Amino acid sequence: MTDSSNARFNTEAETWDLNPDVQSATKSALAAILERSPSLSLDNPNKPKVLDLGAGTGLLSLALSPHASTILSIDPSPGMISALETKLTFPNSPKNITPLCALITDPSDPRLNNQKFDIIVSNLVMHHVPNLKEFINLTYGLLSPGGVICLTDFENTGPEARKFHPEDKMDGVERHGLLRSEMEEFVNDAGFTEGKVEVGWVMRKQVERFPGEWKGGKPKSVVLEAEGERCEMDFNFLVVWGRK
Ligand SMILES: C[S@@+](CC[C@H](N)C(=O)[O-])C[C@H]1O[C@@H](n2cnc3c(N)ncnc32)[C@H](O)[C@@H]1O
Repeated sequence: MTDSSNARFNTEAETWDLNPDVQSATKSALAAILERSPSLSLDNPNKPKVLDLGAGTGLLSLALSPHASTILSIDPSPGMISALETKLTFPNSPKNITPLCALITDPSDPRLNNQKFDIIVSNLVMHHVPNLKEFINLTYGLLSPGGVICLTDFENTGPEARKFHPEDKMDGVERHGLLRSEMEEFVNDAGFTEGKVEVGWVMRKQVERFPGEWKGGKPKSVVLEAEGERCEMDFNFLVVWGRK
């Protein structure tokens, strides 16, 4: 992670949860994860230990908290983690989430105290990770035997996938989505069994009508709709799954 991308997420942390696309992606990621992970059932008396890598302000961690025994929510951005810490001070906030501000690249990082996890999730993070092969190897190293990854991010379906981000939000974007074949290779190479990469859902998202359009601020949808000029695109989201 570069300093400029860290600065970008520190700046965006305060308004992150107000972005309807982020809320929509979290809801769909939660459904995709629950569907594939029976151990997250609310009825399970032995709830799994979860790691949320690149947790941001903790949207997914908070949604998963009733389904997990504990959740470690890691993010390298101090602004994002501080937003999560604030939420955890609210009355009735979950008590099983631990935020950690760190960029973890090694499963034996001392800040993890030798912890291993039953389920690792990570939503909308992998397009920011410089070396995805190393990231997948890291998740393998952080799992208990029999543990699973259920990682979600948008798919690189070709040059048009660049439109996922407006041009002034490209800081820290390492790739315009995940390549299905590449992810399958990384999952298999890391040693996962039952590796599977599939489209989990499709998200319709408003995009710039031309590169740089939103530099002065995103135009109000209501005006664009009246003018019939709202520009939307469908983005596939991949679910990257594997068992150790
Ligand atoms: C698009 S945000 C997604 C945040 C959260 N997962 C969500 O869905 O709301 C990407 C997050 O990934 C974090 N990040 C960037 N590079 C990372 C890396 N190499 N490892 C872990 N997290 C990273 C950023 O700090 C940022 O909070």
